[in-house]
Amino acid sequence: MIKFFENYDLSALNTFGVPAKAKYFVEVKEEVEIAELFRDPIFKNNQKLFLGGGSNILFTRDFDGLVILNSLKGIEIINETDEEVVVRVMGGEIWHDLVKFSVDREYWGLENLSLVPGTVGAAPMQNIGAYGVEIKETLESVEAFEIETGAKRIFNKEECELGYRTSVFKTSLKGKYFISAVNFVLSKKGKMNTSYRVLQEYLELNKIEARSPKDISDAVVAIRKSKLPDPRVTGNAGSFFKNVFVDREKLEELKKQYPEIPSFEEDDMVKVPSGWLIEQCGWKGKKIGSTGVHDKQALVLVNHGGASGQEIMDLSQKIIISVKEKFGLNLEREVNIM
Ligand code: EPU
Repeated sequence: MIKFFENYDLSALNTFGVPAKAKYFVEVKEEVEIAELFRDPIFKNNQKLFLGGGSNILFTRDFDGLVILNSLKGIEIINETDEEVVVRVMGGEIWHDLVKFSVDREYWGLENLSLVPGTVGAAPMQNIGAYGVEIKETLESVEAFEIETGAKRIFNKEECELGYRTSVFKTSLKGKYFISAVNFVLSKKGKMNTSYRVLQEYLELNKIEARSPKDISDAVVAIRKSKLPDPRVTGNAGSFFKNVFVDREKLEELKKQYPEIPSFEEDDMVKVPSGWLIEQCGWKGKKIGSTGVHDKQALVLVNHGGASGQEIMDLSQKIIISVKEKFGLNLEREVNIM
């Protein structure tokens, strides 16, 4: 049986820890409850917001509708060969619990994504990525329910249209599907991916000869802990902005004025780290009221305690303007603004 709550406090359900209320709130714990939920007039007659770990959202006001918390749990191996396993994971599972499940069994593919906050159901939305790996590489399919009809649909990888921090669920099908489960193909004889410079340097510096997924996972956990604030201590939503992609021409132009600008080739574009751009504008470690820019990673905005979502939004706007003025580049928010 599902149970609706009214005027529900969302401050513990968003990692920024900002205050906001939902007109209605419901938690879904079993797949069979989805049909029941979709039939309910409260569901039908209100705007809806599906919430996972609340780690990529900024509430700037109360939500005048129904918030649905995905608490579907379960990790199951549904197919296994000598080479690989297919794992079906329910959307409400904590992402890092899935990583632990796979590194404990020596399955390769998710170790670089250790400690990414949030839930499994939210992971395909923005094709989570870190340390040289995106879930695009291991995702097999996504199971989702169409909100309009209640029909279940399986999206294969291509249909998910996964790109840098984006997917079909964030673009043309935004708000149209409820992701119930995600299937991953993990490898038993996988290759280690240490292509990401920061990861490589960490392993070298600490003389670690990584052999297992767990070795990589431990390294990624250590790097993340040293750079990214723990949301249980300091409210944040990871990278607040996306990195900027420019063409070679624009990079050459920037290099004339800023010869030390870092850049990374990706396909036929060049990635310029937004963290660097923000740092150059003098924002790193800055505080404005209860909001601020993290002192170890300028891409992360933080709530030092008691900030409102609107204050964090205002800070992000100031940053966007200063990066535009200094570099002529447009920063895009990665976090969903509500
Ligand atoms: N940099 C600075 N100053 C800063 C931060 C970064 O100069 O304050 C420069 C440095 O040159 C550094 C480079 O940026 O070498 C890259 O920094 P980092 O390795 O921290 O990665 P990022 O590009 O800033 C991205 C993701 C992170 C992910 C890391 C590691 C985006 C928007 N962010 O950050 O993802 O953990 O790579 O792979 O792509 C998230 O999405 O919430 C997130 C934390």
